[in-house]
Amino acid sequence: MGANKTIGFVPTMGALHSGHLSLIEQSKSECDYTVCSIFVNPTQFNNAEDFEKYPITTELDLKLLKEVGCDAVFLPTVEEMYSNNEKVEHFDFSPFDVSMEGSYRPGHFDGVGTIVGKLFETIEPDISFFGEKDFQQLKVIEKLVEIKNYSTKIVGCPIVREADGLAMSSRNKRLSDEHRKKAVFIYQVLKNAKKQAISHNVSEIKNWVIDAFSHEEEFELDYFEIASELDLQPTSSLNSEAKPRAFIAAYLGGVRLIDNLALNG
Ligand code: PAJ
Repeated sequence: MGANKTIGFVPTMGALHSGHLSLIEQSKSECDYTVCSIFVNPTQFNNAEDFEKYPITTELDLKLLKEVGCDAVFLPTVEEMYSNNEKVEHFDFSPFDVSMEGSYRPGHFDGVGTIVGKLFETIEPDISFFGEKDFQQLKVIEKLVEIKNYSTKIVGCPIVREADGLAMSSRNKRLSDEHRKKAVFIYQVLKNAKKQAISHNVSEIKNWVIDAFSHEEEFELDYFEIASELDLQPTSSLNSEAKPRAFIAAYLGGVRLIDNLALNG
């Protein structure tokens, strides 16, 4: 954008909550104009049911974006983003896409990279805002910018949580009332892991987490990992220089929830 005006960009898949809105606020505080995109990107879902059940609340989303003062909304159709049966692009986001979501959701980051690349090329933002809720995605996007030489700066924003500590997520809307109450267990495990990091080693913490989940029959643990923020590879070092962060993915009532927490700091 000319005349020294800057564009801030917040890509989303809609079903907006305060986590998304915090990114909009951050963009508004740093940029002249803020653009939000809402697009449930089919190519990043490795599970058909997850895609079909992804919540869509477009009217409410538009109302929230207006209230928070977002300047423009980009709401493309699948045909507009993927013309002529066009497929995903394949990327080498290593080392950031090797572990965790990269190995448990094959193809996921190719889908994310493909759509975010298209969105960057359409919006041409000066700064783009991503949540640490999807910490691995944030690192993958930084790598995408490097690979493709995009001119946008990437800003990571802190995780916004519900009052009980559950990380806000569009998928939380799919939880039953009973499961919603139980979902906070995921954050409690992360907090406990952080506490244990003072006096235990990584394998002791991992064993404790696996044991804790084995007593919670409604949860199915996908993975618990301690990885360095620097390369997102599993680490056995809990030294602050390794920047260890705990990552978790678990199913509750068929809904896949993810969360993470820095272990130092
Ligand atoms: P979506 O899950 O809608 O998230 C959009 C942005 O909001 C992401 O950057 C995500 O990390 C951030 N976000 C979600 N919950 C948050 C929370 N509780 N606190 C802080 N930030 C939060 O991530 C995607 O969509 C898609 O993969 C997308 C990047 C739009 C590509 O399709």
